[in-house]
Amino acid sequence: MGGKPENLSGTLVTFEGTEGAGKSTLIRHLVPTLRRLFREKGRSTRITITREPGGSRTAEAIRGVLLRRKMDSWCELFLYEAARADHLARTLLPALRRGDLVLCDRFTDSTLAYQGHARGLPWDRIRELNQFATRGIHPALTVLVDVDPATGLGRAKDRNRFEAEGTAFHAKVRHGFLKAMREEPARWLWLKARPALPPELKAGKVAREILARMEKARMEKDG
Ligand code: TYD
Repeated sequence: MGGKPENLSGTLVTFEGTEGAGKSTLIRHLVPTLRRLFREKGRSTRITITREPGGSRTAEAIRGVLLRRKMDSWCELFLYEAARADHLARTLLPALRRGDLVLCDRFTDSTLAYQGHARGLPWDRIRELNQFATRGIHPALTVLVDVDPATGLGRAKDRNRFEAEGTAFHAKVRHGFLKAMREEPARWLWLKARPALPPELKAGKVAREILARMEKARMEKDG
């Protein structure tokens, strides 16, 4: 399928979860923590922050359509993949080729969880489409920010049409993420979004895991 994925010097880390899980807050706290750790290790790694759907001009325009308009589930699936293809070409690949650490708010596992598990489209077909749209690029680490869907929906602010779906839909989304995690456990870090745990502590744990993955990838490359 599209040949072997190219060898990229950067690292892709993705963040997944149901609405209001606190992904964006985590990413915001993560950046200064990572910068400090890079400084301590004498590294000049650049950090690129991006999101899906979106992350490039065309993908952001598709995002507007996806979050506002009602549509057939297959149309929805293809629009997510179309947005992803443009995001990959214009933002992700250039950043990964430069050697950046890329933090991406949602990625391919959202398509499995929302369009696959929650909307009921075939899981394995979505895996294949994800593979096409990403040219086989895989995250080095995926962080699941896991929250009880009812709590998360209470926290979600900008009610788009997914947030308006209700708790039963979001419970299915959550199970979709757990299924994706069971299929590839080594790629995932499961973070329970306990509101009591300060974001700085969560950020510290995730930052250490990211550094460990980057280190491992470097050692594998050096043989
Ligand atoms: P957004 O407001 O960014 O949600 P959040 O802040 O919770 O990340 O809206 C993105 C919506 O798109 C969200 O409801 C999840 C949905 N989505 C899919 O259904 N499939 C996908 O492949 C992706 C990337 C997102």
